[in-house]
Amino acid sequence: MAAHSLNKMLTAVDRWYRRQGRSLPWRIGPKERDAGETPDPYLVWLSEVMLQQTTIPHATPYFETFRKRWPTVQTLAWASWEDVSAAWAGLGYYSRARNLHACAQAVAELGRFPQDAAGLRELPGVGPYTSAAIAAIAFDERVMPVDGNIERVVSRLWAISSDRTEAGWRAAKVVISGKAQELADAQQKDGRAGDLAQALMDLGATVCTPRNPNCASCPLWDFCEARKQGEQERYPMKAEKKVVPTRYGSAFILVRGGEVLLVRRPPRGLLGGMMMPPSSAWTDEKSEALDGAPGAFDWKSAGEVRHVFTHFALRLDVWTAEAGSKAKIEGEWLTHEDALAGTPTVGRKALALVLKATARRR
Ligand code: ADE
Repeated sequence: MAAHSLNKMLTAVDRWYRRQGRSLPWRIGPKERDAGETPDPYLVWLSEVMLQQTTIPHATPYFETFRKRWPTVQTLAWASWEDVSAAWAGLGYYSRARNLHACAQAVAELGRFPQDAAGLRELPGVGPYTSAAIAAIAFDERVMPVDGNIERVVSRLWAISSDRTEAGWRAAKVVISGKAQELADAQQKDGRAGDLAQALMDLGATVCTPRNPNCASCPLWDFCEARKQGEQERYPMKAEKKVVPTRYGSAFILVRGGEVLLVRRPPRGLLGGMMMPPSSAWTDEKSEALDGAPGAFDWKSAGEVRHVFTHFALRLDVWTAEAGSKAKIEGEWLTHEDALAGTPTVGRKALALVLKATARRR
């Protein structure tokens, strides 16, 4: 697209962002920037890590908790893994929590965040998206972090098509990233790259939505190829979704007085390093129900929970038993409240089956 069109697009987006951009807890909006406020790279990084694969309403309370409890990257670096993992529980993708902690320690060691995308990429858990997001938002580097929203906006603007195979969609994504970067490059050298990135994110989230986009109120109406074709909703042409396989397992909720037993999972792998009810291995076929039980107790069935991970769906048979006060079992006895708060969502679903029933009996 000719440079003057790119410039017109930038102006239109900037105007829209100043009027319609969202006010978000981690964001320094354009008016605050005008008044001289600058973004804190720590809070930008924290929010970006939390927002990957998670919605804003879901991530916001976690962001507030972390910011209050660990207001600087140094305080987070010094925190224990036990505290960080418990505070992260429920946000999903637990390798991110481990990387978050490792990254805070690396930055504390360096003394500050690296100041550009290439330097940020060297940090644990910081990939192309996150490094570009921090570089653009915190340091106004002219790079474009292409998240799902920006991907959709750009794919529609330039009507970037694909044959919906994995390979076709991968190729389309390369074209989308190139076009997104053209927009970033078209900005003034001393411009607000962070405003542009966040404006496009907001535009994707509030106007250029996956279904029923509100094109009538879009600042890029004049420029949008998909709109000109009348085919907005056909973009982005992602690969067809694969059906995920189902895995099976059992979870064991052992209670004693007002407490319940959790064990810490090994540091690597799914839910690595998180506190969970003891459970069997998760397998492609149903195995013996009480395999993996933490002892020979009077196990009673409490029902089934289902949970969908990225690559498979899980069905967990939940069993419960009362342990005698003398039973010696590996793990940690936690109050119901601490256990529910400190375990990932699938663990909370399993606990809830039993603890609700206990609460009802009381
Ligand atoms: N999604 C991820 N990062 C975001 C941000 N900074 N603003 C709005 N939505 C986002």
